[in-house]
Amino acid sequence: MSDRAYVAGWGAALPDGVLTNAALEARIDTTDAWIVERTGIRERRVASADDTTASLAIAAGAAAIKRAGLTPDAIDLLVLATATPEQPIPHTGAFVGEGIGLRCGSFDLAAGCAGFVYALVAGSSMLVAGGLDHVLIIGAETLSRIVNPEDRSTCILFGDGSAAVVLSRASGGDGPGLLAWDLGCDGSAVGLLEIRAGGSRMPTTAATVADGDHYLRMAGQEVFRRAVRAVVDSAEATLDRAGVDASSVDWFVPHQANARIIEAARTRLGIPAEKTIVNIEHYGNTSAASIPLALAEAASDGRLQPGQLVLASGFGAGMAWASALLRWGTP
Ligand code: ACO
Repeated sequence: MSDRAYVAGWGAALPDGVLTNAALEARIDTTDAWIVERTGIRERRVASADDTTASLAIAAGAAAIKRAGLTPDAIDLLVLATATPEQPIPHTGAFVGEGIGLRCGSFDLAAGCAGFVYALVAGSSMLVAGGLDHVLIIGAETLSRIVNPEDRSTCILFGDGSAAVVLSRASGGDGPGLLAWDLGCDGSAVGLLEIRAGGSRMPTTAATVADGDHYLRMAGQEVFRRAVRAVVDSAEATLDRAGVDASSVDWFVPHQANARIIEAARTRLGIPAEKTIVNIEHYGNTSAASIPLALAEAASDGRLQPGQLVLASGFGAGMAWASALLRWGTP
C-alpha cells in the first residue's frame, strides 16, 4: 500500500466588507430578485484597501497550520492556487511564505476556479512521491480587484476570500485521504472567460486600460452550459477511478459559481441536495477559494465527520476542471 495524503487541518479568512445585492442595486442596473433567481447570491465579501490575496492567504494558511496542531517549520511545501496573484512577479507563495514564516518551497498554481483541486492533487502527489510530511494548500482570491464594477454580468458574481488545508502523510493502509482525482482542460474555450491584457500576448498599455482589457470578461451562458457538463463528467470519472457509486458520497462540495449550476450538476450526478454543501448565498464565486471555504465551513460546523466520503469538483477559466474524492478524517 502506498502512502496517502489526508487533511490534517483547515482554516479560512474572509475580508470584513460585505457587498449586498441592495448595494449593487443602488450602483448598477440590476435587482436583488434577478441576482438571487439567476445565481443564488445575496452578498459577497470584498477586500478592503489593506487586504490583498496574500494577506488573506496568510491568515487562512496560518489558521490551517494551527488547526493541524503544527508550527510553520513543519510545513515542507506550499502550493497556492489563485487567479488574482499579489503581483506578476514574484509568485504569491513568496509573500505568503514570508508572512506565515515558511522557508520551504512554494509555487503558485493557476487553473481558475479549478485551482484548489488542482493544487490538492499536485500537493498530495508531491507529498507521497517525495516522502514529505506536511504540505500547505491554499486557495486565495481578491476578484473584486479584477471585475469591472460597471459590468453587471460579472460584478454581481464574484467575491474575495481564502481558505486552506494542511495535507499530512499517512503510511499505507486504507484510512482517510485522497482516494481518486480527475483533472482536465479544454483550451479551445480560453476566450469564454479571460482577462486579455497584462501578459505577454497583450502587455498593459494606456490603450488596453482605456479599453478595459485589464478586466475579467465572461461569456456567461456558454460557461454555464459547459460547466455543468464538465463537473458531471469529471466527478463521474473520479468516482469510477475509486470504484465508488455516487450514492456512497456523503458530501458533494462543488465550486460555488452559481446555485443553478450546482443544482443541475448534483441532480445529474444523483446526489441529494441535503448532501451538497452550498454557501454561495453569502460569498458569491470566490474562484480558487470557493471549494476550500465550503470545506472549512462544513468541517468547522461538524457536518464533515471522520470516515465520510467527500467529492469536490471545480471548473473555470481555461476551461479547466478538477475533481477529487477524499475520505475525511485523520488516521
Ligand atoms: N441584472 C439584471 N439583468 C442582467 C444582469 C444583472 N446583473 N446581468 C445580465 N442581465 C441581463 C442580460 O443583459 C440579458 O438581458 P437581455 O435578455 O435583454 O439581453 C438577460 O439578463 C439574460 O442574460 P444572460 O446572460 O442570458 O443570463 P443568464 O441566465 O445566463 O445568467 C449568469 C447570467 C448569471 C452570468 C450565468 O450565465 C452564469 O452564472 N454563468 C456561469 C458563470 C460562471 O460559472 N462563471 C464562473 C466560472 S469560474 C472562473 O473561472 C472565474
